[in-house]
Amino acid sequence: MTKRIMFTGGSGKAGRHVVQYLVEQGHQVLNIDTKPLDNPKVRTLITDITDSGQVFNALSSYMGLHEFDPSLRPQPVDAVVHFAAIPRIMITPDNEVFRINAMGTYNVIEAAVKLGIRKVIIASSETTYGLVFANEPRDPKYFPLDEEYDVDPMDSYALSKVVNEKTARAFALRNGTDIYALRIGNVIEPHEYSLFPKWFADPGFRKRIAWSYIDARDLGQITLRAIEKDGLGYQVFNAANDDTSSDLPTAELLKRFYPNVPVKAELGEYETLLSNRKARDMLGFCPEHSWRKYVKTT
Ligand SMILES: NC(=O)c1ccc[n+]([C@@H]2O[C@H](COP(=O)([O-])OP(=O)(O)OC[C@H]3O[C@@H](n4cnc5c(N)ncnc54)[C@H](O)[C@@H]3O)[C@@H](O)[C@H]2O)c1
Repeated sequence: MTKRIMFTGGSGKAGRHVVQYLVEQGHQVLNIDTKPLDNPKVRTLITDITDSGQVFNALSSYMGLHEFDPSLRPQPVDAVVHFAAIPRIMITPDNEVFRINAMGTYNVIEAAVKLGIRKVIIASSETTYGLVFANEPRDPKYFPLDEEYDVDPMDSYALSKVVNEKTARAFALRNGTDIYALRIGNVIEPHEYSLFPKWFADPGFRKRIAWSYIDARDLGQITLRAIEKDGLGYQVFNAANDDTSSDLPTAELLKRFYPNVPVKAELGEYETLLSNRKARDMLGFCPEHSWRKYVKTT
């Protein structure tokens, strides 16, 4: 059945692919962003998520102008997917990344819940595990990084994402809405597979992100599965492909770059260190786009 989905941040790197995936699966999407999206199937409502009034208004808006439809009344919304954000440190000053991400997410979740929308998916980040933007390279407490991990980042971007997860949890508790946070790994667009050989030549380069990645189309799949899976309350899911973004076996990466970190689970030869097992088990996530389909190895 067609779902009506309000999508924030659909004009961005990750959002544009996820929006396209949702539309291809037959769903209706309204993009909520400060910038337009170049997709003839999707309208953008220019909205600043840091302004709560605009967010309440946008989430209760028409989804499109279907010129020949009998009614232009706003229809019930099935889900909100919230990707709009400043996506790392060093784009804005630290207080701005924190303000925009933490207040923007608060505004989106609060408006969705108070407008009676029963499903909210938010973009969290692998940076919450505290390795990516740590002052100095840092060992995690264990591998693989899973959703039970006591996340403790030191940077303002990842801190905003941890706060957003707490906001999601509070509102899910408050009224029983399903709110799932996706801790997204490094997003790879289809044209970016050309970068992989350079990364293979310098295997330490992606150490801080623990060699994680998610194909942007697989991010579409996990988002849709999260929209379709009801009744889980508040949840966090890592969103990563099955393998790492390195051509070296996972055991070799650990031996060379994280020799002192305990490994808590038995890992497959190339298995991701940003565990996707919970998403596989609970959402039925099944990534389709390994880099091995697109990159030649010698
Ligand atoms: N790209 C990655 O590798 C990655 C990894 C982990 C998590 N994430 C998260 O995924 C989401 C999408 O990331 P991305 O890489 O597509 O980032 P992006 O910067 O390409 O896209 C973000 C979008 O949000 C919009 N936006 C920013 N501030 C806004 C505001 N105040 N009001 C309305 N819209 C606003 C921007 O215009 C942009 O279209 C973000 O939440 C990011 O933190 C991304």
